[in-house]
Amino acid sequence: MKTRTNVLLALLVMVVLIAVMPGCSPQKAEKVQPVKIADNEYEPANWGKAYPVNYELWKKTEEPTPAGKSKYKRGFDADRITYDKLSEFPYMALLFNGWGFGVEYNEPRGHAYMVIDQLEIDQSRVKAGGVCLSCKTPYAPKMEKEMGADYYGKPYAEVHAMIPEQHRKMGVACIDCHDNKDLSLKISREFTLVKALKDMGVDPQKLSRQEMRSIVCAQCHVTYNIPKDKDMRSVGLFFPWQGSTLGNISVENVIKKIRSDPAYGEWKQSVTGFKLAFIRHPEFELFSNNSVHWKAGAACADCHMPYTKVGSSKVSDHRVTSPMKNDMKACMQCHSESVDWLRNQVIAIQDRTASLMVRAGYATATVAKLFEKVHAAQQAGKKIDTALYDKAKDYYEEAFYRASYIGAENSMGFHNPTEAQRNLGDAISFAGKAEGFLRQALAKAGIDTPVTVNLELDKYLDGRGKKKLVFNKKVELKDPYGVQDRL
Ligand code: HEC
Ligand code: HEC
Ligand code: HEC
Ligand code: HEC
Repeated sequence: MKTRTNVLLALLVMVVLIAVMPGCSPQKAEKVQPVKIADNEYEPANWGKAYPVNYELWKKTEEPTPAGKSKYKRGFDADRITYDKLSEFPYMALLFNGWGFGVEYNEPRGHAYMVIDQLEIDQSRVKAGGVCLSCKTPYAPKMEKEMGADYYGKPYAEVHAMIPEQHRKMGVACIDCHDNKDLSLKISREFTLVKALKDMGVDPQKLSRQEMRSIVCAQCHVTYNIPKDKDMRSVGLFFPWQGSTLGNISVENVIKKIRSDPAYGEWKQSVTGFKLAFIRHPEFELFSNNSVHWKAGAACADCHMPYTKVGSSKVSDHRVTSPMKNDMKACMQCHSESVDWLRNQVIAIQDRTASLMVRAGYATATVAKLFEKVHAAQQAGKKIDTALYDKAKDYYEEAFYRASYIGAENSMGFHNPTEAQRNLGDAISFAGKAEGFLRQALAKAGIDTPVTVNLELDKYLDGRGKKKLVFNKKVELKDPYGVQDRL
């Protein structure tokens, strides 16, 4: 009788367990026995003594990625080419002209390169100062705490030199994502992410393990802003999430927040002369904004750190990379479709997104060139209707941030296809209206505007220093449905 109750009890427990398991979640890795790691242990090799398999996989992010697997995110292949985004999407060279992103803007590669790439990139890109190290070195939280305001604004090289020598090229490390005591997931960036979560009313201590499997990535894979003082010195760093909620950080709220910031304007766009903010890689924001996979309970780690067998151990793949470069193994933890089906599905989503993005980008670039014409007319003493001008400027900025949002987000729409398309549709609409207002203003001032505005893209692509020629040879234009020539 006793055994029967036990069996019944065990069955009941099983039923409950199955009921609370999220729909088709992948199997978990084996439980690891925590080993003592010293407090403030930055050296991954020392963590590796306890967790050698994870350590070896983490180190593999320095290896080139196999060529030909990903269409839009090629990382860097055996030829050690890093792909130049400005050549793939030339309208970006025009829009970002005026600062570092218009000189050199590359597709991402493995985690091992994050600091190295900063050291190697055109140094105009790190002009903002020490603040640039915030999502690169594991020492950032410590330096921010110790140096205060100086951390943000002091020259990059000076702040970088304060990292212990043996770690000056090291990117994201165990200490960034893990608690040294029990190896649970941990947010190390109090000064950015914890603050941003609290601004949304989220208690970081109460996040579930599955949420943490995305949140550790949100320390860096998010958009951020760098407020400046009147001398354009960096004085801080924040994620523009105020007014949003977890699971719905919308592009509208982000734009509203950055446009209303008192220190608005991180750089000056040369074509228009406007001071603007900038959008960086909003992977977390786009993915978590009601996407199908977020709603299904998937996390960044499910797709980018799939469970993998190494010898007799089963671990999370710490060679963080695109699922395409890992033959869709991550997807197959939940999906039963074939590799080809999954790959084609991703590419179909990406091609559609890219096509809309190119359209939005060129439409926005066209408005920028019309502003150039308007400003030249004003210089020549012509009077421009201010109501039309102001409206055009407002809509132009709305279009610019929306087009940049998807341009900077690294999945080319996959993380949230319908939201990406909604965003780009709005960008196209805002840009189209802005163009109309400017054409009307120019006509009112008696200035003829050609049907097709010459964007002079070669000027922006060629006029950006030595990098261009090296990169351009290997990079093809990304315009899957050929909309670029008809804009
Ligand atoms: C400390 C900041 C930081 C954290 C934390 C972080 N990343 Fe990254 N990640 C980066 C940077 C920076 C790059 C680009 C590196 C480069 O190109 O030099 C990158 C690149 C990538 C890439 C492209 C890799 C490739 O092979 O091309 C993927 C995928 C990625 N990250 C996913 C993740 C996921 C998933 C997480 C959370 C588990 C995460 N990252 C956590 C900063 C971070
Ligand atoms: C459902 C699966 C899935 C989830 C969940 C997911 N991603 Fe991705 N991610 C992808 C796919 C697919 C791509 C496109 C890869 C490609 O084109 O090679 C991608 C691309 C990326 C890239 C660019 C990769 C590269 O090689 O350059 C980064 C960075 C990235 N994701 C980060 C994240 C972060 C951070 C999260 C969580 C906020 C996340 N992803 C959630 C599937 C996913
Ligand atoms: C970008 C964030 C990130 C970095 C850096 C990182 N990990 Fe992890 N690690 C994770 C995530 C996410 C998991 C999955 C945790 C979970 O499911 O609870 C994980 C899990 C683990 C586990 C548990 C077993 C497993 O594989 O699921 C061990 C052990 C581990 N990591 C060790 C390390 C070591 C050692 C390093 C440094 C060499 C490291 N990690 C660097 C994010 C990271
Ligand atoms: C953690 C589990 C999980 C992982 C990992 C995962 N998916 Fe999904 N996926 C789902 C669920 C659940 C749905 C919801 C729709 C359904 O199948 O019922 C879904 C839906 C989809 C859809 C339909 C989307 C839509 O908008 O209707 C596609 C396409 C897709 N997944 C592709 C992928 C690809 C490609 C990968 C790997 C990069 C992947 N998934 C990884 C669970 C997962």
